[in-house]
Amino acid sequence: MKKILINFAHPAKSRSNINIALRNAVKDIEDLTINDLYANYPDFMIDVKREQLLCERHDIIIFQHPLYWYSTPAIIKEWLDLVLEHDWAYGSKGKALEGKLFFQAITAGGDASTYQKDGYNEFTLKELTAPLRATAKLCNLSWLPPFAVTGVHRGLAKGKVENYSAEYRRTLIALRDSSLDINKLQQQETLNDNTPITVSK
Ligand SMILES: Cc1cc2nc3c(=O)[nH]c(=O)nc-3n(C[C@H](O)[C@H](O)[C@H](O)COP(=O)(O)O)c2cc1C
Repeated sequence: MKKILINFAHPAKSRSNINIALRNAVKDIEDLTINDLYANYPDFMIDVKREQLLCERHDIIIFQHPLYWYSTPAIIKEWLDLVLEHDWAYGSKGKALEGKLFFQAITAGGDASTYQKDGYNEFTLKELTAPLRATAKLCNLSWLPPFAVTGVHRGLAKGKVENYSAEYRRTLIALRDSSLDINKLQQQETLNDNTPITVSK
């Protein structure tokens, strides 16, 4: 079984609905570690060695976060700047992350229809993850498209939160157990493309 690391980044957890729901839905999965970045580093003083060891001890690395300005909350940028050191993450001796799976689990205020070329936001969520995709490539990570929850501005119906949560849990367990076709997943727009959300009453 693969070991999963969720680097969880939400600066206002007490006001979170969907990220907390997703997190609660997966927290008891065997071989899964949740690393809450804002809780561990409220002053942004990231312990680089600790973070590198965590990455080394896991096979799947996820950044779970709300979409902020079409990007990540600030602590993820700080994490990348500090933790991905030369000759650890990249460079001729930097092989620590080689072959590990990597993706973002993103929640967005805008509806799915706004994240289209001809939609209000003009870019797809897959396109907006390009900086971390390029970073993953440089670090020899195996990149996957984002697990995406959209339309949270409107407030998700209760059934939808439960369905997204169950889908997140199913996806993580399937990746942990290597039961998904990674090449096929890489072609998808999002990790949760193929399992339409059904709202239960
Ligand atoms: C500073 C900030 C920036 C945001 N930027 C975006 C954005 O670029 N696109 C978008 O769809 N939603 C944006 N949102 C909405 C959040 O993504 C949304 O509130 C969040 O995903 C809800 O998750 P939660 O219930 O876990 O807090 C932004 C929210 C904040 C506070």
